[in-house]
Amino acid sequence: MKRRFATYSQRQSNKNPRSEQAILKRNLTPSVVRKFQKMIYRYYREHGRNLPWRMTHDPYHILVSEIMLQQTQVQRVMGKYEQFVKVFPDFSSLAQTPLRAILKEWQGLGYNRRAIALKQIAQKVMKKFHGRLPSSAETLMTLPGIGRSTASAVVAFVFQEPEVFIETNIRRVFIHSFFHDKTDIRDTEILPLIEKTLDTSNPREWYYALMDYGAMLKQECENPNRRSAHYQRQSPFQGSNRQVRGMILKALTQESRVSECEIAQKLQVSPEMLKKNLVQLQKEGFVKRRWNKFAIA
Ligand code: ADE
Repeated sequence: MKRRFATYSQRQSNKNPRSEQAILKRNLTPSVVRKFQKMIYRYYREHGRNLPWRMTHDPYHILVSEIMLQQTQVQRVMGKYEQFVKVFPDFSSLAQTPLRAILKEWQGLGYNRRAIALKQIAQKVMKKFHGRLPSSAETLMTLPGIGRSTASAVVAFVFQEPEVFIETNIRRVFIHSFFHDKTDIRDTEILPLIEKTLDTSNPREWYYALMDYGAMLKQECENPNRRSAHYQRQSPFQGSNRQVRGMILKALTQESRVSECEIAQKLQVSPEMLKKNLVQLQKEGFVKRRWNKFAIA
């Protein structure tokens, strides 16, 4: 297949066959790093996306966007983010809002446990950190729903710190650019390259540029992330527990106290599937049961 965007190492090897070997040995010379950065920034200048969460330095807004973007496509987050931060403009308002109202605004994003996590984060930030988001990735990772990648992204975007992290678009850029003959590539092999090529003078802009280049690659050629050792296809949504969970929570945000039988009639799912998901939602703290009625916790 002819690729419109040649890999970076392909371009280099056309010019100088020896440099490809150097790249594959991860021997990134300052000149290679400069050229790679130039290529990524050139693409960003011409095609970078103006995403609303990139127009702000507000830690709360950036955190909300990164949590939303964890498992949801940019396009879908675009339709939700602005309304969400309009309704809940800061940690204080989110911390005080009942979960039911938060889930209502979250509807359409899926993976609702992120909404619970966000509320818990807001409560912790208010109580433990006097309303200010901690600036270290290590501390952020102690908060619910925040893993290494989200913590580092927030630190880079809010505080302009040269954190090294990987996420799906970034992974795609590096596999495409530096590993074109290899499969089962582990993130531990990629991270040293991310570190070496990081624009430490402007990590925020650099990571935006990398993410946009990675998003473009997804459309241009076969997804390079299939060659990642961590590649996982998302399981089909239709008929899944994820879908049933979403439907239950939607029903419970519309009416406050509903019986299992009423939910079953409304959703048209098998009693076993319904029971299993109701039990799970209670265990996870989404839903509470009082007598035979269910409600958002
Ligand atoms: N801009 C800032 N964070 C982003 C993300 N996680 N995905 C895509 N674009 C972003």
